Amino acid sequence: MLRRLVLLCLSLTAVQACSVMPDGHIPAGAYDARPIVIAHRGASGYLPEHTLAAYALAVEMGADFIEPDLVLTKDGVLVARHDPWLSDSTNISDHPEFADRKTTLVSPEGQTLTDWFVWDFTLAEIKTLRAVQARNGRDKSHDGEYEIPTFSEILDLVAAHNAPDNSDPVSLVGVYAETKWPGHHEALGFDMAGALTREIRSAEVRNASTVFAYIQSFEPAILKELWSEMNFPLVQLVYPEGYRPDGKPNISLEEIAEYADGVGPYKSLVIDPKTGASTGYAMRARALGLEVHPWTFRDDDKPDQFATPEDEIRAVLNAGATGFFTDFADTGVRAVNDWMAENE
Ligand code: G3P
Ligand code: CA
Repeated sequence: MLRRLVLLCLSLTAVQACSVMPDGHIPAGAYDARPIVIAHRGASGYLPEHTLAAYALAVEMGADFIEPDLVLTKDGVLVARHDPWLSDSTNISDHPEFADRKTTLVSPEGQTLTDWFVWDFTLAEIKTLRAVQARNGRDKSHDGEYEIPTFSEILDLVAAHNAPDNSDPVSLVGVYAETKWPGHHEALGFDMAGALTREIRSAEVRNASTVFAYIQSFEPAILKELWSEMNFPLVQLVYPEGYRPDGKPNISLEEIAEYADGVGPYKSLVIDPKTGASTGYAMRARALGLEVHPWTFRDDDKPDQFATPEDEIRAVLNAGATGFFTDFADTGVRAVNDWMAENE
């Protein structure tokens, strides 16, 4: 488990005293003295993604942050799904009562999608679904076992782990929450930023504990909005050029530094995918005061030039990444431990 700077700040009052800037904002790097392991969709390499079981396993493996991607239900409740659609990560196609809810829309990236979408279902309806393994080649033996969790349930899971009677005082865990399609939610009449803020504050009160969080998005507008509404570090996700079907270019690092604390780039922006050599991107970001958390590292989808998944992670850390998203939290923790030992 990691030793965090935040351990010096175990109470909310102390956190504010030791790591908060004059405007109340928690600055980049305030949580951790070493690269952070972000459990992407939970320990999703092992269990169906975005389930309480997958998050709990990631915590057990020593992840620093678990990553819920958040979407709103018809009745305005934040639930965890990597994408707003339901066909590939749940058993919705086995629910004939929902057959007529399939619709077609255009995604923020310009793709036409026909599927079932979370905002067309109430939380009670979403709770009748069960999660399934979304990626080919992974264990499907847990399909059908787990519900779709609410953000509130995820915050409670983390709070239970971080409870004062936790026998391991260096194992505090945070949430690294992504707002999915915030502009689309807004067009549908939802207030995603408000829901996020309310859920976190009420979890802090309900559990009498501090939430440690990063908030990430591909869409700058919600990050700019959240800057004034909450003090958590904000991370702008960035695609490499040519990745999006609409061909939109990257957002420049200089621009990001004006409203965010970190950048979450696709990993090929940080290391050359063919050689593994640094592109210089991470160090340019850090020179602007940004944290750098590339995505996504997968034991079962590793570029050929790396002998092991740990080697790929070592390459991004050597290139200047201050954390990373991985589906395999145990591999991520091992890679950071090795890298720290090598760099002592
Ligand atoms: O938060 C960024 C991340 O969710 C990207 O996911 O599956 O496209 O690597 P993926
Ligand atoms: Ca995500």
